[in-house]
Amino acid sequence: MMKNKLVLERAREDGLALTFDDVRLRTDYAVVMPDCVNLESKFSRNVGLKIPIVSAAMDTVTEYKLAIELAKLGGIGVIHRSLSIDDQASQVARVKHHLNGLIEKPICVYQDDKVSSVLSRRESKDYTFHSFPVLERGDKLVGIVTGNDFEFCEDESLSIKDIMSTQLLTAPEGTSIDDAFRLMCREKKKILPLINNDGKLVAMYAFKDVKRIKTRSAETYNVDTRGQLRVAAAVGIGEEALERVSRLSDKNVDVIVLDTAHADTKIVIDTLKKIKKAHSIDVVVGNISVGASAERLIEAGADGIKIGQGPGSICTTRVVAGIGRPQISAIYDCAKSAEKYERSIPLCADGGLRNSGDIPLAIAAGAHSVMMGSMLAGTEEAPGKIVFAEGLQWKDYRGMGSIGAMEKSEAARERYFQKQTGKNQLVPEGIEGLVLYKGRLSDVLFQYVGGLRNGMGYAGVASIEELRERGDFDRMTSAGFSESHPHDIKITKGSPNYRTELDGTR
Ligand code: XMP
Repeated sequence: MMKNKLVLERAREDGLALTFDDVRLRTDYAVVMPDCVNLESKFSRNVGLKIPIVSAAMDTVTEYKLAIELAKLGGIGVIHRSLSIDDQASQVARVKHHLNGLIEKPICVYQDDKVSSVLSRRESKDYTFHSFPVLERGDKLVGIVTGNDFEFCEDESLSIKDIMSTQLLTAPEGTSIDDAFRLMCREKKKILPLINNDGKLVAMYAFKDVKRIKTRSAETYNVDTRGQLRVAAAVGIGEEALERVSRLSDKNVDVIVLDTAHADTKIVIDTLKKIKKAHSIDVVVGNISVGASAERLIEAGADGIKIGQGPGSICTTRVVAGIGRPQISAIYDCAKSAEKYERSIPLCADGGLRNSGDIPLAIAAGAHSVMMGSMLAGTEEAPGKIVFAEGLQWKDYRGMGSIGAMEKSEAARERYFQKQTGKNQLVPEGIEGLVLYKGRLSDVLFQYVGGLRNGMGYAGVASIEELRERGDFDRMTSAGFSESHPHDIKITKGSPNYRTELDGTR
């Protein structure tokens, strides 16, 4: 249960809405040091996070490359929806298959296939692996053919059965990744096919993947129960959304994000109910900014809620439409409403974060995770190429409600309820621009997570839940704000977690 946060309660009573730079966290007695705090949290009811960081469903932020790296670092990426259903589903599949804890549909060959035809198929399909289970007609497993068998084969007109190995190590259907790892280590086998009672192949483990999951990666990777990286994907409203959800579920997407600019609407709630009726998958719904909206979404079956109307770096919603609520107050109001329910619904604070210190602030206000756009947009793994301007390296970043994004994609228009609007009659709610190139995601997140850890250390809390419950605020004036930033000095050296006027961002 979150304690009442006096500054935010008073502001709420006065109808005063506060945001990140209006407040700072109070320090408190600490027992646990920053490097020992637990950063685990939840994005939705059934989907966990090892760090409370989620990437925005935007076409300049999250496609499969960033989603893979972010899940490896413990967070989750939301693949944007300005993609055809096929493209979005295949992006999800690329994330899910990146580790391949359990390969559920192994690519197989038949024993009477010619070696030459398998080799040319491998090349044309760009397979990165070299071992294939071998089936006889009728799909019974009869052998394995590996990279070595191909390498030492001098006559490509031979059949696979002439070069395959029939000394098979197999395990029964349902074998866990832990048992598979032990068995493969003991028997020194790189491939472990799983077979059912009829001897038919049902799945397969590859040692390289299993080892990666079981060793170095295990503590940081955010993986599902099959050992595959977690990923979310955004959908819109209506019939098209239902079709998208079906296709994404087929690819084992972990979370659906029902992604609109105003979620407290009949059409969004109807879509949510239809998705929940048809699928047993977690659905995070957004965006909202008031507690009453959170209550309606929870009652309609949301498994997570996304908060943020107008705080984003590329948003012009507040200027164009005159609506929205400064983010710290929006988070707190929704968190207080969500607490009334027995079912605990994770809240994601979406947009407006500019520095790592904003992460603990969002969490102490009641969020379970934060969604970032601009703070991730300039990374190596984000879509798009590096652009050179004014002697610096940049990457494109644009609002999904910008003219560029809406002209390109029906999904972006739909997010702002302008799906049927003619291209020259659009009313944009976002802008397009450049953000500084930031290098590799892992280096960038190291600083963000480091800032969060330090904040938790100062606040004297050992976990994300404790930060939500106990973290408390002071109100800051503009004098406090300017005191908070470096002052009375000409900064001569850049810092990896503080950007200055020298590099064009402040
Ligand atoms: P940041 O501040 O992290 O914000 O860059 C990312 C979030 O902003 C939202 N978003 C928009 N909001 N107009 C808006 O009003 C837009 O064009 C737009 N595009 C994205 C979105 O919630 C994202 O996660």
